Amino acid sequence: MARRTIFVGTFVHTPAPSTLQIMENAAVFVDEDGVIAHIDIDTSSPDARLNNDLEEWSGAELIFTRPSENEFFFPGFVDTHIHASQYPNAGVFGNSTLLDWLEKYTFPIEASLANPDKARRVYGRCIQRTLANGTTTAAYYATRSVESTNLLADLCLKAGQRAFVGRCNMDQNAPSYYIDEDVETAVRDTEATIAHCRKVDPEGKIVRPIVTPRFGPTCTAELLKGLGDYAKKENLFVQTHISENKAEIAWVNALFPTSKGYADVYETAGLLHDRTILAHAIHLTDEEIELIHSRGCGIAHCPVSNLALSSGNARVRALLEKGIKVGLGTDMSGGYSPSVLESVRQATLVSRMVAMTEGEEAKLSLTEALYLGTRGGAEVMGLGDKVGAFKVGMQWDAILVGLGNVPKWEQHEAENGANEESDSPSQPGEQEGESAEDELTNGLLGLGGFDS
Ligand code: GUN
Ligand code: FE
Repeated sequence: MARRTIFVGTFVHTPAPSTLQIMENAAVFVDEDGVIAHIDIDTSSPDARLNNDLEEWSGAELIFTRPSENEFFFPGFVDTHIHASQYPNAGVFGNSTLLDWLEKYTFPIEASLANPDKARRVYGRCIQRTLANGTTTAAYYATRSVESTNLLADLCLKAGQRAFVGRCNMDQNAPSYYIDEDVETAVRDTEATIAHCRKVDPEGKIVRPIVTPRFGPTCTAELLKGLGDYAKKENLFVQTHISENKAEIAWVNALFPTSKGYADVYETAGLLHDRTILAHAIHLTDEEIELIHSRGCGIAHCPVSNLALSSGNARVRALLEKGIKVGLGTDMSGGYSPSVLESVRQATLVSRMVAMTEGEEAKLSLTEALYLGTRGGAEVMGLGDKVGAFKVGMQWDAILVGLGNVPKWEQHEAENGANEESDSPSQPGEQEGESAEDELTNGLLGLGGFDS
C-alpha cells in the first residue's frame, strides 16, 4: 500500500473557467489510495491541520516545493485528442492539408506499427515524452492493429499514465495496405482491444477502452452504426473527428447524401452522447452545435493542429457559451507538439484571431485556456470529479513545475539596480501587469521559463 503523503508549498490551479487560484504556504494531504483527503489553504492559520493535528498523519511522507526554484504544483495536463501512433511524425506536415496529409504522412506511419517492435519503441517514447510535458491523462488513437493497440494499453498502464486507448476503424477510402476488411472484422477487432483493456485494468483506474471510428470519410454507415450500437451496449466512450476541413466536409456530404450534415451522420449511427469526444469541430453549423449540445458530447479543441494543417479556427467561445464541454487536444502529429501547454498558448492566440471577425468576447484568457487544458479536458473524458484540480475527494494528479531562478520583472529590476524613479507612477506604455492573470501571461507567454 502506498504511503500517505503531505505536499507542502505553492499550488496553482483553475477550479473554474475564470478562476486562477494560487495557494502559497498550503498543504495537500493525500491518502494511501492517492485521494486528496484534506487541504490546508494556509498552513500558518491556527486551523491548519499541519500545525494542529499531525498525529493522525504521523508517518506520512512530507514533500516540499522549493521557493528558490520557483516551484509549484499544478494539476496534470489532460490531452483529449492525441495519436500515439503518429509520434515519429511530430512536426512533419510540409504544406499539406488534412486529406493529402493523411495519405502522404499519416497512413504510412500508422501502418508501419503493425511491426510490434516498432510499435513498442514509438509508443514507449510517446508516453515518456507526453509525461515529460506534464500530460497525466490522454485520449489516444492507436492504429488498426489489435496487437499494437493492446501494446499501447499495456505501456500506458505500466507508466501510470491515465489513458483512453482506441483502435482506429476504417472500412472505406483508406489505402489497400491499411483498411479493415469489412464491418464484422472491424467490430470484432475493436471488441478484442476492449476486452484486452478490461483484462489488464478491470476497474479502468488507469487504462480504459474507447470506441474509435476514425472519421466520416473512412467509415461506411454500417460500420458507424455497428460501432455506435456496440458503444451504447457496453456503455463505452467514443472518439472521432468532426468538421475539421472544408474538403473533408464536402466529401462527407457526398458520401452520405441523405444526411443533414456531418454531425447528423454520427447522430444517425447513434454515436452522439455524453461519452463522445469530437475532435476539431471547426466548421460546425449552428444547428450542429445545437445537436452536439443536446446530446452532451464533449469537444477536443486542437489549436496547434488546426493552424499547422490550415484547417481553420474553432469558435471556442460559441461552444462554451452553449454549455458544451471543451478540452484541449494536441492532435499530435496534426499538431506538431506533444505539449498541452503549447496548446494552451495557441488556444489563447487562435481565439484572438477569431475575435477579429467574431468580436472581442471570443478571446480566451490564459486562465480559461489553462482550465481547458486541465479541468475542462477532465470533464470531456468523464473524469471531472477525479482529476484536473486540487479538491478533497479528487485524485492527487499533479505535476511539479519549476521555473528555475527566472526572476520576475520587479525582482529583475531590484537585482540589477532598479531605476530611481521606480516609485513614480508608470508612464503610458510602461504599465506592468498587476493582476494574477497579467503575471501569468508574463510568465507563460512572455518572460517565463514555464517550458518543459
Ligand atoms: N481525420 C482523420 N484522421 C485524422 C488524423 O489522424 N488527424 C487529424 N488531425 N484529423 C484526422
Ligand atoms: Fe486527430
